[in-house]
Amino acid sequence: MNMRENATETTPDMRENSLRDAIREEMRRGGVSQPRLARESGISVPRINQWLSGKYKGDNAAIEKALQSWLRSALESREQAASGCIPAAPDWMPTLTANKILLALKYAHKLADITVIYGGAGLGKTLTAQRYQEDNPNVWIATMTPSVISVTACLERVAYAVGVNHVPAGGAQAEQAIVSRVSGSGGLIVVDEAQHLPVTCLDALRSLYDASGVGLAIMGNESVYTQLTGGSRKAHFAQLFSRIGRRERLTSPTAGDIDALLKPLDPAYII
Ligand SMILES: Nc1ncnc2c1ncn2[C@@H]1O[C@H](COP(=O)(O)OP(=O)(O)OP(=O)(O)O)[C@@H](O)[C@H]1O
Ligand SMILES: [Mg+2]
Repeated sequence: MNMRENATETTPDMRENSLRDAIREEMRRGGVSQPRLARESGISVPRINQWLSGKYKGDNAAIEKALQSWLRSALESREQAASGCIPAAPDWMPTLTANKILLALKYAHKLADITVIYGGAGLGKTLTAQRYQEDNPNVWIATMTPSVISVTACLERVAYAVGVNHVPAGGAQAEQAIVSRVSGSGGLIVVDEAQHLPVTCLDALRSLYDASGVGLAIMGNESVYTQLTGGSRKAHFAQLFSRIGRRERLTSPTAGDIDALLKPLDPAYII
């Protein structure tokens, strides 16, 4: 094979990388969270996580096939939306609520502190965290699900998110692997959908925070905060609660949020 052929040949690595970029871009544009991508593509969140970071050791071809098909259908929906059949959801917009979330993330990141961002569904927590991740190095998002009921499962999910290649079995080993990976990075671990976590897992995250020295943002619905404060059992939760540097409670969308989101859709706004 000559040099010229070599230069134009598409290797499996190049193909995977461009698919990775295309998937990331589509997730960003469509505000698609990893759990939603998992639901729609049939691939589990940890696998998607590993594949996106180029660390998946299993059947990459199968994942590529499923994600290519998901991407095709997402692009088709976008084309239909653009042609006026379905109104398109706007890209991330700097609404008042989104800016509150950004500030809280930045606070935890820059001061290596703990923030809890909590509030109702659809207020833009996930989308804004993804946006913050795109704009900043060393920001990792670990998404929890109802199946994460043990400390080991929770730490394994964080380990995948931070790009630990082979997550060792057992909570203590996973914790050690995460600490080695993130210490000194000046990074931020975002734990999304944290309402699924039992208190033992939240405490394990607190301990991970103490050991790693990076920022920690815990995001989820209202019940996350109740879990962290322990409700009426406050004394028992003092250690966990005392670590929280900043709480950001999000309420229903503000009028400014709605204005900002409608602006690109409403013809009255088009000059
Ligand atoms: N700042 C924003 N700019 C553009 N779209 C937004 C914004 N905030 C929310 N949205 C829209 O709302 C949808 C839901 O946002 P997102 O999934 O981030 O909410 P959430 O707070 O994480 O909700 P949940 O608690 O259900 O996880 C997005 O897919 C997007 O269409
Ligand atoms: Mg979310």
